[in-house]
Amino acid sequence: MIREIKNGKLYFDGCDTTALAEEYGTPLYVFSESDIESRFAELKKDFTEKYGNCRVAYASKAFCSRGMYKLLEKSGFSIDVVSGGELAVAMSVDFPAERIEFNGNNKLPSEIDMAVDYGVKRFILDGTGELPLIEEACKKHGKKVKVMVRITPGVAASTHDYIITGKLDSKFGIPMEDDVLYPLIKNVIDSPYTDFQGLHMHIGSQLFTTKEYMESLEVMLTTATEIKRRLGEDVKELNLGGGFGVTYTDEERKPYSFFLDPMMERIIGWSEDMGMERPKVSIEPGRSIIAEAGITLYTVGQIKEIRDVRKYVSIDGGMGDNIRVPLYDAVYTGIIANRAEEPCIDKVTVCGKCCESGDIIIRDLMIPESTKAGDIVAVYSTGAYGYTMASNYNNCPIPAAVLVKDGRHALLIKRQTYEQIFENQLVPEWL
Ligand code: LLP
Repeated sequence: MIREIKNGKLYFDGCDTTALAEEYGTPLYVFSESDIESRFAELKKDFTEKYGNCRVAYASKAFCSRGMYKLLEKSGFSIDVVSGGELAVAMSVDFPAERIEFNGNNKLPSEIDMAVDYGVKRFILDGTGELPLIEEACKKHGKKVKVMVRITPGVAASTHDYIITGKLDSKFGIPMEDDVLYPLIKNVIDSPYTDFQGLHMHIGSQLFTTKEYMESLEVMLTTATEIKRRLGEDVKELNLGGGFGVTYTDEERKPYSFFLDPMMERIIGWSEDMGMERPKVSIEPGRSIIAEAGITLYTVGQIKEIRDVRKYVSIDGGMGDNIRVPLYDAVYTGIIANRAEEPCIDKVTVCGKCCESGDIIIRDLMIPESTKAGDIVAVYSTGAYGYTMASNYNNCPIPAAVLVKDGRHALLIKRQTYEQIFENQLVPEWL
């Protein structure tokens, strides 16, 4: 068990969370290496080893850090980056270039140049004007890259509107019009700088049913069939994206096989019908690898009771380290880590310290009545998109992060200092 209650306290991957809070301060992101490794093991068992010729590219945007990239490097998996910044972090730990793929709907010429120069081999084409930029960089650096074409399957996944990406009206993907898509793919095939590798889709995030995946896959396979018919080219790879749902509160997390088995079965059947070898199949999970592997620790400060209305428990972090509640109405749960065995009979709203009414972390959390200033709140499943979407709103420093495993702990990210908040700010000389 990654989360355990012992001696009245919450332990996470063998570490007493109250001791972590004491040693590293709060707010503090805590990541469990054992949990991350168990996801890697599941992906190997149920996907890469089960089917062979499969690839996992971790979606860095969920949690990008040098330590995370080191873990990924050891795992043998690839990574997906979407910016020069993510690429720079990967480069700083010498992440193997051939295991990096580059996604994004507006890759800047400078980012493309940086990636090609570093040796990144796989580009997910996500704009009709992107190919010339890739060709220019390849020409300059004497390189050739593999290109996957991201399609917009036109399927609206059932999740929060902000994290749907595969519907028709989306900024992502190449439009599916015949006179746009196929000429573009022909250009990729014909270019001396690119190898047409196949198709890519990512339909949304935090999904729990196979319906949208299967519908989108059907669009992808129809497109692949058309590519063969019109252009005589086989797709060598199909990238199904990420999006596999996780447990924040009471959602029932599904194993990877729940999503992947039916899709693999369909792809195998399609390949047989086409009389071709099954293409390589890739996925880009982000949240499902790192969300539940992370918790955030905070210290309780002011407690405000509005009689017959609500009790607010203020913590020393908030929307600066987790914007997901105000942005997506995300729902979290947690515990008072130092009162983990006391009965929870008090219903409270855990709120942040930012000057914003929407700065709420948990609505209606049941906690012990004795909770007071100085206690430690642990919020569960904050590992994905918390740190990577953190901001300096109200000039609050970005928290530190620690990695824990079997009772061992070490800093993964140092706490930002006040000096680092203003070090890039200049005062023009006439002021
Ligand atoms: N591949 C592509 C092309 C993506 O755009 C994404 C996520 C993923 C893979 C990974 O999806 P995942 O497995 O993590 O669901 N900030 C939002 C999530 C935005 C997801 C954007 N794209 C949140 O906090 O819920």
